[in-house]
Amino acid sequence: MRGGDGAAGLKYPELTAGAALAHDARDPLAPFAAEFHQPFDPTGRKLVYLCGHSLGLQPRSTPGYIEQELADWRRLGVRGHHDATRPWIGYHELAAAPLAGLVGAAATEVVAMNSLTVNLHLMLVSFFRPDSQRNRVLIEQSAFPSDRYAIVSQLEFHGLNAAQHLIEIGPRAGERAVRTEDVVEIIEREGARLALVLLPGVQYLTGQRWNLPPLIGAARAVGAAVGLDLAHAIGNTLLSLHDWNADFAVWCSYKYLNAGPGAVGGCFVHERHARDPRLPRFAGWWGQRKATRFDMGPDFSPIDGAEGWQISNPPILSTAPLLASLDIFRRADMRRLREKSIHLTQFLQLLIDALVPDKVEVITPRKSDERGCQLSLRIKRSPGEARRCHERLSAAGVIGDWREPDILRLAPTPLYNSFSDVFTAVDTLSVAIRSEP
Ligand SMILES: Cc1ncc(COP(=O)(O)O)c(C=O)c1O
Repeated sequence: MRGGDGAAGLKYPELTAGAALAHDARDPLAPFAAEFHQPFDPTGRKLVYLCGHSLGLQPRSTPGYIEQELADWRRLGVRGHHDATRPWIGYHELAAAPLAGLVGAAATEVVAMNSLTVNLHLMLVSFFRPDSQRNRVLIEQSAFPSDRYAIVSQLEFHGLNAAQHLIEIGPRAGERAVRTEDVVEIIEREGARLALVLLPGVQYLTGQRWNLPPLIGAARAVGAAVGLDLAHAIGNTLLSLHDWNADFAVWCSYKYLNAGPGAVGGCFVHERHARDPRLPRFAGWWGQRKATRFDMGPDFSPIDGAEGWQISNPPILSTAPLLASLDIFRRADMRRLREKSIHLTQFLQLLIDALVPDKVEVITPRKSDERGCQLSLRIKRSPGEARRCHERLSAAGVIGDWREPDILRLAPTPLYNSFSDVFTAVDTLSVAIRSEP
């Protein structure tokens, strides 16, 4: 079967298993797959795992990182705070530089802590400070529910309400992606009424990668604070948070960062807020200046930068897997990963176009710079049949995930997925979609 041109520099003359194998043979990042545990079914058959947008796979190095802390705890007890191989007192600091590299920030602008929604609330305490004039929040219409709950509860906390103070922007009728110009227009229309804009890096349902720089620019130009939810963007796309100038960003680490279920999340606070004494915050002792933290004095004086938003001391056993994962990202290099990712997703798109053209609508934008690795597929059957198609796909060993009523999300991730995985997935889908129940 003839294919088309792939992303720049990669041709797909044949959309065959053999061509996929040939791409794998030329892939300099292919050896990283062996650094992960690949899931298998009860019969021992290896699964094709395209679900890194939901929960990333376990690095083989993860147990070693956790065991190190358990051993140091066994051996040292409380002395581990200072004498552990990686002293616990500054454990979270080990994640700062690699996280900063992934999000395009200074190490002092990022901190590994809590989980995404908790961090979002902490950021809203500081950056959503409505008054009688400026009290509206703009979010996307299909925002992840937890984000919406957080925003609405914060509005209510300030005596405001969603009906009057929440603006939700979606795609135009008949379209799937949100247009940048539409968001800019609404930001400019709301102007001085807008207190906060919360934007996704990559939209969780459609896989659309938002064009953040003009949106952040427009929001800041009208005086609104800007926050980002990077759950689906970190470890997936290239980010330049410092230069883009958002006020804050939050993320989780269990998706593309492969740090395990419920892993420690992260937070970015732009340097311009590093030493702003007027910013209110919910304080805790781990945000207290390190030189005086153990003086146990009554007055809070925060650490400069993102670390000053910490509340509690870091959970060592659940931060250990994050360090294991970040070491893999350091060696693989995010730019190289993104380059491979563009090719993998392009291959997925071309195979879908070729093998299941009239059965599936890809609702993710076609252009590489408007998406990360995930493609969201609308299965063009009745909702019940569409769901059964996903069940047959899973039973046949291909793991994506399902969003009602008819969306299948598949995310080939460049660290552990191959072109052969992508070929097998679409080949299996083409059978699953044709089989009658
Ligand atoms: C886009 C997005 N935002 C927020 C969350 C909530 O994350 P957490 O449970 O870590 O607060 C998720 C979880 O999957 C998500 O996908």
